[in-house]
Amino acid sequence: MDSDNLLVTGGCGFIGSNFIRHLLAEANFRGRIVNVDSLTYAGNPENLHGIAEAYPGRYIFEKVDICNPSALQVIFAQYRIDTVCHFAAESHVDRSIKRPDSFIRTNIIGTFNLLEASRAAGRFRLFHHISTDEVYGSLGKEGLFTEETPYRPNSPYSASKASSDHLVRAYHETYGLPTTISNCSNNYGPYQFPEKLIPLIVLNALEEKPLPVYGDGRNVRDWLYVADHCEAIRTIMEKGRRGETYNIGGHAEMENIAIVEMICDLVDELAPAAGSRRRLITYVADRPGHDRRYAIDFSKLHGELGWSPAESFASGLRKTIRWYLENRGWSDRICSGEYQSWIREQYGEQPDGSSY
Ligand code: NAD
Ligand code: DAU
Repeated sequence: MDSDNLLVTGGCGFIGSNFIRHLLAEANFRGRIVNVDSLTYAGNPENLHGIAEAYPGRYIFEKVDICNPSALQVIFAQYRIDTVCHFAAESHVDRSIKRPDSFIRTNIIGTFNLLEASRAAGRFRLFHHISTDEVYGSLGKEGLFTEETPYRPNSPYSASKASSDHLVRAYHETYGLPTTISNCSNNYGPYQFPEKLIPLIVLNALEEKPLPVYGDGRNVRDWLYVADHCEAIRTIMEKGRRGETYNIGGHAEMENIAIVEMICDLVDELAPAAGSRRRLITYVADRPGHDRRYAIDFSKLHGELGWSPAESFASGLRKTIRWYLENRGWSDRICSGEYQSWIREQYGEQPDGSSY
């Protein structure tokens, strides 16, 4: 990829940290990465442990909030930023339902600040914006989201991401800023914060805690292994047409309950317990405004740029569960902190007083 000084925002989160590892391991990327992250509850420097030492002079971390425009100006000037890959966001739908404020601040105002800093930068090459399939709303039993599907976001999270997408598009049309946008489906893999479905179920299954399934468990998501997402982003940044949007998906539509059952069986195999983990499945109250089905048509990305996912859902899920088994220290440190108050707020207590 053609960048000397790449600003990655939100690089201490799940996908951002995977992306930084992925890109630095790429032989044809020779540039320097400046990771700007404010380290919210979801940002964890441990996700990039050893990276600065492994790539001397090529990785720099700056604890900066993207909602602070003057701090961004300093970063752009100090490091002569020529390219941005923008991951930083509040990313959890359930938290956006409880407290939307920070979603509006970071996802909309923060993106605006970055666009302004990019517009002011000399010799600027590309602003790549990471977005989500949730901006398209919900599908019925049939059909797929394409890049032409009208935006119909249903949660404060997806509405804030939709708003940021529109800003990026407008900066291309109005100011000629070189931009690309990718709208991706649900990711899973190493370093995902345990509030999300797959790591939550894996960790609860390991500890033989209840496995909370919203509503009837029949909502459908299209799952993509995080390394495949990272390679798609790299491909779009390198070869994507400026001003364009690309959908990214895994061709892996799954009902939530089927995923939870698969995880139970894999955890039983890899970490046997007295009884099947399936006995722990617990149906709980549904998420308000819960989108029923997402499914992605990524034929534009495949046809134009030649990308397709390498990992199947079965192989990616097995790798992911192994990673969580081998990295219990990482999740124990997260789960023993303030995260517990979120779990109590979101799931309450079991009838017998025990926690989720
Ligand atoms: P995450 O919650 O794991 O990480 C977000 C990161 O952004 C954290 O490191 C956090 O500290 C940082 N951050 C938050 N607010 C900030 C601020 N004001 N200033 C600077 N840094 C800030 O998120 P993720 O799952 O890695 O998602 C990354 C991006 O990908 C988001 O834009 C999200 O909308 C998008 N996305 C996620 C998925 C998914 O399945 N996780 C799918 C499609 C798109
Ligand atoms: O589609 C892309 C989006 O995927 C990203 O933009 C978001 O940042 C990311 O968080 C994810 O959103 P979802 O809401 O789809 O992911 P989550 O892991 O929260 O939930 C996946 C499905 O599982 C969803 O239908 C809700 C359900 N669920 C989730 C949790 C946390 C449960 O049934 N029980 C749970 O405890």
